[in-house]
Amino acid sequence: MGKKLFIETLGCQMNSRDTEHIIAELNTHNNYTTTDILEEADLIIINTCSVRERPVAKLFSELGQFKKLRKAGAKIGVCGCTASHLGRDIIKRAPYVDFVVGARNVSKISKAIETKGTVEIDINHDETTYEFSDYRNSLYRASVNISLGCDKSCTYCIVPATRGEEISIPPQIILGEIKKAVDKGAKEVFLLGQNVNNYGKYFSDKNIKSNFTKLLQDVSKIDGVERIRFTSPHPLHMDDEFIQEFASNPKICKSIHIPLQSGNTKVLKEMKRGYTKEWFLKICDRIKAMVPDVRITTDIIVGFPGESDKEFEDTIDVINKVKFDQIFNFKYSARPNTQAETMTNTIDDETATKRLTQVIELHKLHQSELMASNVGKTMKVFFEDLKPNGEIMGFSDNYIQVFIKGSEELLGQIVDVKIVSNSRTSLKGEII
Ligand code: 5AD
Ligand code: SF4
Repeated sequence: MGKKLFIETLGCQMNSRDTEHIIAELNTHNNYTTTDILEEADLIIINTCSVRERPVAKLFSELGQFKKLRKAGAKIGVCGCTASHLGRDIIKRAPYVDFVVGARNVSKISKAIETKGTVEIDINHDETTYEFSDYRNSLYRASVNISLGCDKSCTYCIVPATRGEEISIPPQIILGEIKKAVDKGAKEVFLLGQNVNNYGKYFSDKNIKSNFTKLLQDVSKIDGVERIRFTSPHPLHMDDEFIQEFASNPKICKSIHIPLQSGNTKVLKEMKRGYTKEWFLKICDRIKAMVPDVRITTDIIVGFPGESDKEFEDTIDVINKVKFDQIFNFKYSARPNTQAETMTNTIDDETATKRLTQVIELHKLHQSELMASNVGKTMKVFFEDLKPNGEIMGFSDNYIQVFIKGSEELLGQIVDVKIVSNSRTSLKGEII
């Protein structure tokens, strides 16, 4: 009989995709199937995130729970970014952990589970990390890595240390993966990387030539691909060619994540983001002018070391000018092995909390206005989930969550929907 795997995923979309890779590997080579019931699992894995301190603390509390609830003989493993950055220290602190496999070493998972005490956390280039069998969580959406690692050195960020140097995955591998997923019924492709629009700079085979715009064009030529999404692009690499393709290619979802981090040019310089407040605003203006109904989302960090009240006001000013559709906001959290870790001009927690609340409250006002402006519009909605209350949920072309009364046969369909009402975070509609 096959063995059972329980896997918990924290963090970003890259981690979710790594989880799919882990499941695929363990299924193909070790005969594991997944379970949602921790107590019946033969193998328990937590795929972690290190970007802020809180998920790291969560790791150890989760591990304690796993130890308590696991059935006799079940193994416990730690994967992902925290595995990369803490390595063997995880086993020192929690000796019942059987193995540790870093974010760049997922291809080693099959072997790692066999030997107690295995620690695989090398962040050097590993070509094998992106050729896997094709397990996917969603029937309709295929997440595909297009690059691994990050070539930036934002001073607050631990990712370059956990996911390693940036490499671009050859287009033929990406396109092959997408074709396979489409043959199995996927209609939406989600291209993933730390800096997707830097794609093409780091092929290990120097004869390969491509860039992000070219990749988008190639993906959209695949029959059966109906929607293309991507995350995260970096504001620095939004050249005219890319914006033009984003605006004009009907298969590309009109939703874009443009991580601001701070609205103040001096803070941005200290973060080593490479752009100014004005430059960021210009990019957003250009995209809004070229793409009607575009949805712009962002990431903001408040309380970066040295951020004065006046400098923080620039972040508020950018939020007021752009009116983001969604903001992922964070209090700065000092991370090990980052340049900002040693900065001494830290901001007290009370001030950071006050700033965070200000961002959240302002954003809520914008969100209410923006969502209300959708009522009366007709949107193409891709339905993917049936809710227990008889509603069916999907996403519009600019990636807003839409609910309608409907039944199973709408799953996997893209349908015209008239929007009749809204909440702050979702829309309700009727089929036309
Ligand atoms: N503190 C707070 N937020 C951070 N992020 C990355 N590193 C930190 C940190 N040290 C946020 C950034 C990034 C998002 C994924 O997480 O906003 O875009
Ligand atoms: Fe971190 Fe900056 Fe790279 Fe994003 S671009 S992963 S914030 S170093």
